[in-house]
Amino acid sequence: MQENFSTLARIVSNRRTIKPQQMNGRKIDDAVIEQLIALADWAPTHGRTEPWRFYIFGGAKVAVFCKDHADMKRKAQPELTEDAWQKLSDMGTLASHVLLVVMRRGDLPKIPALEELAATAAAVQNLLLGAESLGIAAYWGTGGSVLQPEMKEYLHLGPEDQVLGALYLGYSDAPAKEGVRNTPLAEKMKWM
Ligand SMILES: Cc1cc2nc3c(=O)[nH]c(=O)nc-3n(C[C@H](O)[C@H](O)[C@H](O)COP(=O)(O)O)c2cc1C
Repeated sequence: MQENFSTLARIVSNRRTIKPQQMNGRKIDDAVIEQLIALADWAPTHGRTEPWRFYIFGGAKVAVFCKDHADMKRKAQPELTEDAWQKLSDMGTLASHVLLVVMRRGDLPKIPALEELAATAAAVQNLLLGAESLGIAAYWGTGGSVLQPEMKEYLHLGPEDQVLGALYLGYSDAPAKEGVRNTPLAEKMKWM
């Protein structure tokens, strides 16, 4: 049991955000992406709503998505600088896959949306931990238009659905970064 905890603790605490610019262009097998999503699927849910949905861009679709993202941002914000447009458009150049994570609101109104969001975030963490265990670099981004109405429209989502982020996945040669936590753990717990 202690061995299981040590293994899990190492994976959890070593997981770091690695930006797509630090990825190296090496591709992840699509089958591995599906294994990661299968881990995500084991997140807890209230009412067994399983609200997580993953929109997967791989291969040439990564560049298509990134350009579409840059274009939708420019359409929503015409004053967007050329540099900012280019940055979004190039965001996935060195990544292998981009996954848009969506909370799909189910038809159980007694489960509040907050709980559906929490469950979907738990699913993302499962996926990120699986990635860490396989040496896959991951970045959870919410910049650009990711959280905006234009992204919902792009994915043909319902009004109550919510995009939680874009996950850029790939491999990286960058040395592992030191983890940083600003608030001491003791300040985050209060024994009652
Ligand atoms: C919901 C969510 C949204 C995030 N969005 C961004 C983002 O838009 N840009 C960014 O640089 N990092 C983003 N991050 C990653 C955080 O910056 C990162 O998790 C934090 O710095 C802690 O670093 P670590 O993941 O290596 O522990 C996001 C993380 C979460 C959970």
